[in-house]
Parts: sequence; C-alpha cells; structure tokens
Amino acid sequence: MKRLVVFYSLSGNTREAAKKIAEDLGADITELETEKQMPKSFAARIFVGGGQVMFNYVPKLKPLGNEAGDYDEIILGSPIWNSKGVPAINAFLQDENAAKKVTALFFLSGGGETGKGLDAIAKKLPNLKNTVSLLDRKHKDSAQNEAKIKQFIKEITNR
Ligand SMILES: Cc1cc2nc3c(=O)[nH]c(=O)nc-3n(C[C@H](O)[C@H](O)[C@H](O)COP(=O)(O)O)c2cc1C
Repeated sequence: MKRLVVFYSLSGNTREAAKKIAEDLGADITELETEKQMPKSFAARIFVGGGQVMFNYVPKLKPLGNEAGDYDEIILGSPIWNSKGVPAINAFLQDENAAKKVTALFFLSGGGETGKGLDAIAKKLPNLKNTVSLLDRKHKDSAQNEAKIKQFIKEITNR
C-alpha cells in the first residue's frame, strides 16, 4: 500500500503530527503551502484566517512535491480554523481524484471541538474511514496526542 500524508500547518502542530504519522506508516509526506503567505503575528493570523474561512476563500497552492495520483491512499492533516478545516485543504480537495483517495483525517485544534470541522471536510471525502482529533501543544491534555496517534495508525494498518 503506497501512502501519502498531505497536511497544512501554520504554526507547526500539524506538521509535527504529520511527520510522526508518516514515519510510523512508512508513508511519503507533502506539505501544502499557499502562494500568498499568512501574516506573522498571532492576532493578524486569527483575523486574516478567520476571514478566509468565513468567506470560503480558496487560496492558490504552490505546486505539490508529490502527485496524489501516484498513491493508493492519502492521510490528510488539517488545523481547525473557526470550527472548520483550513482554506488550503479546501484548495487541495478541489481535485476530486485526490479527495477520493483520502481515507484518514487528523485534526489539530486549540480546544478539541472538531465536530463541525469534521462534518465540513468529511462531506468532500467519500472514502473516509478513520479520523483523530489532536490537541495544540499549548493545551494541557496535548500529551495524549501520542497515544491517539498510535491508535490512529493501528486503525489504518489493521483495516
Ligand atoms: C485563524 C485561526 C482560527 C482558529 N480557530 C480555532 C477554532 O475554531 N477552534 C479551535 O479549537 N482552535 C482554533 N484555532 C487554533 C488551531 O487550530 C491550533 O492552534 C492548531 O494546533 C494549529 O495548528 P498548526 O500549528 O499546525 O497551524 C485557530 C487558529 C487560527 C490560526
């Protein structure tokens, strides 16, 4: 099974989880990057990112390092922004063939409330089988991420 981990990360939490998941699965990894950079300050990121989600903005992505078509399945990672997935993920999922390959999804959030985000993204993923909600490193329970990732990997490899 040839697997690709695709993720977006603004402040590193999703990147850290993506690297771990790719390593444990022996998968390749690709980071989604928008052509237009996000601002550096936290307040500006909340303002700009929140606005993008609100207006369903779909950014232009830099060319991907790996082709979705070369893989059997994709494991997708996204932070939660304004209770939803991020604009870069929506841009990636415009490719319906890539969306069909996504079988597992991991979320990073500040508070752990991922229900709405999951619903919003899951609608675009007809073959989604496994999901896991992980916590930002600033959250007091983020130490649980490791065990959750282990379980997620187990679910993916045991199907
Ligand atoms: C624009 C923006 C909106 C966010 N909205 C939410 C939210 O609605 N709920 C939540 O739990 N966390 C929210 N967060 C926090 C992120 O989901 C969290 O910090 C996550 O770990 C970031 O992942 P990253 O470091 O890979 O970028 C938001 C962060 C940003 C930048």
